[in-house]
Amino acid sequence: MPQQIGVAVIGMGVMGERHAQVWNELPYTRVVSVYDVIAERTAECAERFECLGAGSIEEALEAPGVRLVSVCTDDQSHLEPCLAAAAAGKDIVLEKPLATDPDEARRIVAACERAQVKLMVGHVVRFDPRYQAAKQACEGGEVGEPVYIYARRFNVVASGWRIRGRTSVTFFLGIHDIDAMQWISGAAITRVQAESCSKVLGGIGTDDAVVATLRFDNGAVGVLEALWVAPAGSPNSLDARLDIIGTEGRVQVRVGGEEMSVDTHQRSVRPDVTYGITMGGRMEGALRTQLAHFARVVVEDEELLVAPQEALSAVNVAWAIDESARTGEAVDVE
Ligand SMILES: NC(=O)c1ccc[n+]([C@@H]2O[C@H](COP(=O)([O-])OP(=O)(O)OC[C@H]3O[C@@H](n4cnc5c(N)ncnc54)[C@H](O)[C@@H]3O)[C@@H](O)[C@H]2O)c1
Repeated sequence: MPQQIGVAVIGMGVMGERHAQVWNELPYTRVVSVYDVIAERTAECAERFECLGAGSIEEALEAPGVRLVSVCTDDQSHLEPCLAAAAAGKDIVLEKPLATDPDEARRIVAACERAQVKLMVGHVVRFDPRYQAAKQACEGGEVGEPVYIYARRFNVVASGWRIRGRTSVTFFLGIHDIDAMQWISGAAITRVQAESCSKVLGGIGTDDAVVATLRFDNGAVGVLEALWVAPAGSPNSLDARLDIIGTEGRVQVRVGGEEMSVDTHQRSVRPDVTYGITMGGRMEGALRTQLAHFARVVVEDEELLVAPQEALSAVNVAWAIDESARTGEAVDVE
């Protein structure tokens, strides 16, 4: 990497802080500015990352040396920072989902194309070695033609309470698997029929779980399950699966049942060892791999591993699933 590049981080919640940490730990990137609508968060993070605490998105983008931007605002607040970053000519890594509204998603992609800036949506599952290996097995022909494609993502209930109705379980969790199912199988979801229920989080107007049957353009069928009310005492906060059965074979991924646990007299815990594991004081894992990849895309023109149109396709599917759950009708995906 020839020179060090400056990064602005917009939205300093859980993910904004992780992005900033990784940018400062990578040898060739430095956080130059941070901005959050909550001024105290901006100030705390500016102090922690020793950078400018900006008073607006524009001020963060204009800070000297900013070349790329991490957008880590809530799911439904991705449009404004992305349009501002594109207008300022900055390359963007945007936390998933691209948007929660297909029209906003299209506007973000179009603005980046017009401004000729790079855009990558952080579908971090693509940087998880297990899902990469599944993709390679499918590409290598070991599965043959996909027949049945199943995925699920269960989070503990703290996740549903934390997000508090700001987005749906489909857009917050299911979007990872919608993208993974289409990317790994090479088939596009064309029609969905979904059901949802709300017993735990009903008070905050949020579905607990959604389940959808899926039709793919290669004739395969499948099922997607997303849930964020798994018991607080679960040993692993994330329980995810992918299972693709094809004409020649099958690939399976299991996340959360890692062969590592910490058992005490009170409970057994299986910590995350893939997405953000600290080693020698640094964050290693899939998020770091994803951000390091995007820095190389920006500086060395490395080929982008998540195309904007693929992220847009995932939004269209997620939107169709929520629409189907709301109306009780099957919905064709645009
Ligand atoms: N890749 C993953 O595994 C993963 C995990 C969790 C969340 N996410 C995604 O990351 C994004 C952020 O999620 P989070 O869990 O960090 O949420 P969070 O609530 O912890 O943080 C969001 C922050 O954005 C700020 N914000 C909202 N609108 C803003 C605006 N217009 N300008 C500046 N700041 C604004 C909020 O004040 C808040 O501090 C979401 O899109 C979410 O889906 C990804």
